[in-house]
Amino acid sequence: MPDIAAHEPINQDFTGKDIISIDQFTPADVERLFAEADAMQQAVTQDGGSDLLKGKLMASLFYEPSTRTSSSFLAAMQRLGGGIIPINEVNYSSVAKGENLEDTVRTLECYSDVIVLRHGKIGAAALAAAQVGIPLINAGDGAGEHPTQALLDLFTIQKELGRIDGLNITLLGDLKNGRTVHSLARLLAMYKSQLNYVSPNQLRMPAELVATLDAAGVQQYQTDSLDEVIGDSDVLYVTRVQKERMVSDDEYKEVKGSYVITPETMTQAKPNMALMHPLPRVGEISSQVDSDERSAYFRQMEYGMYVRMALLALVLGKTTAPAASRQAEAAQPELVRM
Ligand code: NCD
Repeated sequence: MPDIAAHEPINQDFTGKDIISIDQFTPADVERLFAEADAMQQAVTQDGGSDLLKGKLMASLFYEPSTRTSSSFLAAMQRLGGGIIPINEVNYSSVAKGENLEDTVRTLECYSDVIVLRHGKIGAAALAAAQVGIPLINAGDGAGEHPTQALLDLFTIQKELGRIDGLNITLLGDLKNGRTVHSLARLLAMYKSQLNYVSPNQLRMPAELVATLDAAGVQQYQTDSLDEVIGDSDVLYVTRVQKERMVSDDEYKEVKGSYVITPETMTQAKPNMALMHPLPRVGEISSQVDSDERSAYFRQMEYGMYVRMALLALVLGKTTAPAASRQAEAAQPELVRM
């Protein structure tokens, strides 16, 4: 087993770094990323994007199914003028011949400047990142983490509610196997949030994660009743039961359909609550709720592209420089060549 480097803190310098876990981030890093994501939104709205990553290539390697994460990364890279090597169906790559993850990412390192990886095993992103010298972004490692999703979720919260500090946030569904909620809870913990966990007993938030956040002084409340907490929630974040991570069909049948958000559920919610879901949904939110203006899950997908554009630019050492520093540069006297 190769040595897996500890996740390197971002420390406000994203250049060349792997993005493996939310633990690498501080609020200052998040602020930096969101400023860049705002600039990306503006660039897309005005011109469809920019040429910031012209000449750069992103390899995207997905060992598990994906619609949003994979297509938003591909769109993000291309909207910045970069190229892509999309491997969405690993069964048609040399993985089908038995090539291991280490050799596969080493191969992609030869052709690209950044790798985006989704894999079914916890820790796969860290293992793969240790093999290559270019940035590797974790797009989901089994039931482990999904840091870019958590970042786009927080960006959505900021856009929807206008703030991210001191909110009452309810995470609902499969909290045991859902990697999005594992990363999001870690991220929200930095913002003095009250976290409510609503799930069937079998699908509770991992005790280890709850203990870590508890030691950090985070207010957490576990229940199986949404009614208990919905009225106080600023955000309701719904997730699907992760069928593919269950040992048997019976286990799935027992918990599937435990919670369904309907227009009636929404009558108990605050008038400005944000209803979110990483998607795909498989029945947890009735489509009748889609027209409710508090339903943020479609906007959430769009925000995801801006955040991924920002992240790709920053790890590749590029930035849409803030106006102030550009002016300062322009004001510098030209260097006299000797
Ligand atoms: C999530 C994932 O893959 O973890 N989807 C996503 O990335 N938007 C959630 C899920 O599959 O339930």
